[in-house]
Amino acid sequence: MALNLKAAGQQIGPIKKEYTWKDVILYAMGVGAGFNELEYVYEKGLKVIPSFGIAAIFDFFTHIAAKAEVNYAGILHGEQELIFHSPIPPNGTMITEGKITDFYDMGKDKGAIIVGESMTCDATGKRLFTSIIRIFSRLDGGFGGSAAPGTTVEIPDRSPDFEDTAQPSPDQPLLYRLSGDIFQLHVDPDFAKLSGFEKPIMHGLCTHGYASRALIKHLVPGEPERLHRLSCRFSKPLYPGDPIKTQIWKTGNGKAVWRTINAKTNETIITNGIFEFGDIPKDEIRFDGKVAIVTGAGGGLGRVYAKDLAARGAKVVVNDLGGARDGSGGGSTTPAQEVVDEIIAGGGTAIANYDNVATPEGGENIVKTALDNFGRVDILINNAGILRDKSILKMEPENWQAVLDVHLNGAYHVSKPAFAVMRENRYGRIIMTTSAAGLYGNFGQSNYSAAKMGLVGLMNTLKLEGKKYNIKVNTIAPLAASRLTEDILPQALFDKLKPEYVSPLVLFLCSDRCNASGNIYNAGMGVFNRAAVVTGPGTIIGGDGKIPAVEDVASQFDNIHTLENGREHEELNALLGDIINAFSSPGDTGASDSADTAAQSGKYTDAAAVFNAMPGAFNPDTATGINVIFQYHITGDKGGDWYCEIREGTCTVKSGTHEKPTCTLKMADKDFLAMTNGDLPAMQAFTSGKLEISGDIMKSQLIEKLFRL
Ligand code: NAI
Repeated sequence: MALNLKAAGQQIGPIKKEYTWKDVILYAMGVGAGFNELEYVYEKGLKVIPSFGIAAIFDFFTHIAAKAEVNYAGILHGEQELIFHSPIPPNGTMITEGKITDFYDMGKDKGAIIVGESMTCDATGKRLFTSIIRIFSRLDGGFGGSAAPGTTVEIPDRSPDFEDTAQPSPDQPLLYRLSGDIFQLHVDPDFAKLSGFEKPIMHGLCTHGYASRALIKHLVPGEPERLHRLSCRFSKPLYPGDPIKTQIWKTGNGKAVWRTINAKTNETIITNGIFEFGDIPKDEIRFDGKVAIVTGAGGGLGRVYAKDLAARGAKVVVNDLGGARDGSGGGSTTPAQEVVDEIIAGGGTAIANYDNVATPEGGENIVKTALDNFGRVDILINNAGILRDKSILKMEPENWQAVLDVHLNGAYHVSKPAFAVMRENRYGRIIMTTSAAGLYGNFGQSNYSAAKMGLVGLMNTLKLEGKKYNIKVNTIAPLAASRLTEDILPQALFDKLKPEYVSPLVLFLCSDRCNASGNIYNAGMGVFNRAAVVTGPGTIIGGDGKIPAVEDVASQFDNIHTLENGREHEELNALLGDIINAFSSPGDTGASDSADTAAQSGKYTDAAAVFNAMPGAFNPDTATGINVIFQYHITGDKGGDWYCEIREGTCTVKSGTHEKPTCTLKMADKDFLAMTNGDLPAMQAFTSGKLEISGDIMKSQLIEKLFRL
């Protein structure tokens, strides 16, 4: 059976697990704790070994395997990363949600790797830990996917700083399995033999638990809650009863690398171990496991975004062409490389890329750099920029074009391939960089303003195209000191405009906590606000056969112009309320303050009467070539569900719901009756939110043409 590659990105969970202090102690004993670590095995003052988390959510592992449709005969726990956000309480509830993020193909004879990522919270929604698990499936390779990017944790060329020897009992798996992993391989001699082992083997996660205890003992003694990150790769099986030794090297402040060896054979059984510790900041926003691309990150704002993302765990592609402020010159590798060096020196992960965003190949290559080195793309900050300021009469085509090429076309070139990856992963965060010059205008920057406003348009559509794939697209209008602004901003202001003031909002918009999409935010000097395109309520001075005269417009211009009571629109279709005048009387623009009164004074007193009248009001002459189904949900005592099917010049109205309506209209009964009776203009109903339309909104315009009620 082949792997179900379509499972990537599909939500798994929420999976709920309730546990008590007894589960915590059972786990601790399963991983070798005893009288010498009473804090793990005695309910009085009980502390949780943080790796208990992965044993407690073991069900999630089985859900990944089931969803991926792996061949169970060949699966092993390949790698495990745990990032702790809050200490795990000694009893409570864990709620886990996640997804399969990647399928990698190591080849027909070598197998496949399935990567699953999950977040576990307590019952109040407090984040406890993130788990990234890699399942190695020996029998599922050769499906034609890409190979997993290689990662190796460097072990220092010196003796370990600490070594901790332990002797799991020959019966250890029998105890450990009671914590959740009851796979036969660890208990059934026949199954173990069938799987190619001489007898049942230790659970990798059991040895992992022994290693966790050793790491805590030597690095954060008595304070398991200070463990922040624990990751490793399971490299060889271990038989119960074999002695183990965990070797630990401190590599920096709050950081260590480790491995566990079979002390009898000296074979490494757990490798690539990372242990990070310190005080866990409360509810920190992190990007562990995420891959970010920042264009134009060799200096200015981009450099700060890249460094801040890396400091919070993201792997970053630092793109910069290294050209002059106006984009001229052959470019240089220095700016991007220097930022990468800074990130690596700070303990982060980054790779430089020197491609030009202004070409499609450049965009493709930037995304390829992320995929080749880190295997995915979760975040894209379109930040690269140049300036060629001139007033319009002096603006030569090449200066116009160069600025559009970097800012607007550049964002298209990188966003397109990045979007493809994000869509596949059903997750993405994209940032466009606009400017106050584009939003509000700035003398001498026509090329730049046009490009920057173009990015807002690009965002508006990408937010819709990315919606169902959890791709959020937002736009930042920064104000910061950089080489772009050094001769534009007054010196006094320039000194107060550190890019660091902009970065926190950009990072929030890049995080999985951000649910906003399609918005523009100004940020600078610690001041943050939102800018938006707002549409005024306007007025109706024509339509339904009457073309307004220019003088009509002149006399109504104040009403056309006003933004008072204006509102934002989610998308183009949402603006079509003025055309969707389904049931209002022609020329009626006034609204009643009381829809209840209007409904009572009108022709129809309940929704059923309207739908009974509908076939009679149908005008077949207007229906040539039109096949649509309108679904109505009218809430309230006088409402109900009806659908109206127009097919080949006929109209059928039935009560109930249709499986596949073309569009759906939802209203409260009193508003529906007010609208039908001509007391509530459809435009007003729509713009005030009283009429909700979903599905193919454009088709709802046909209602007016098809019926005369
Ligand atoms: P900056 O000049 O320090 O950074 C821009 C970076 O983009 C440079 O390192 C440059 O080498 C790189 N770059 C230029 N063309 C490139 C290309 N074709 N391919 C790859 N990299 C390229 O300027 P700053 O201020 O940090 O600007 C960042 C972004 O913020 C720009 O999009 C800018 O328009 C925008 N912005 C900045 C404002 C500010 O107050 N600094 C105000 C409004 C917008």
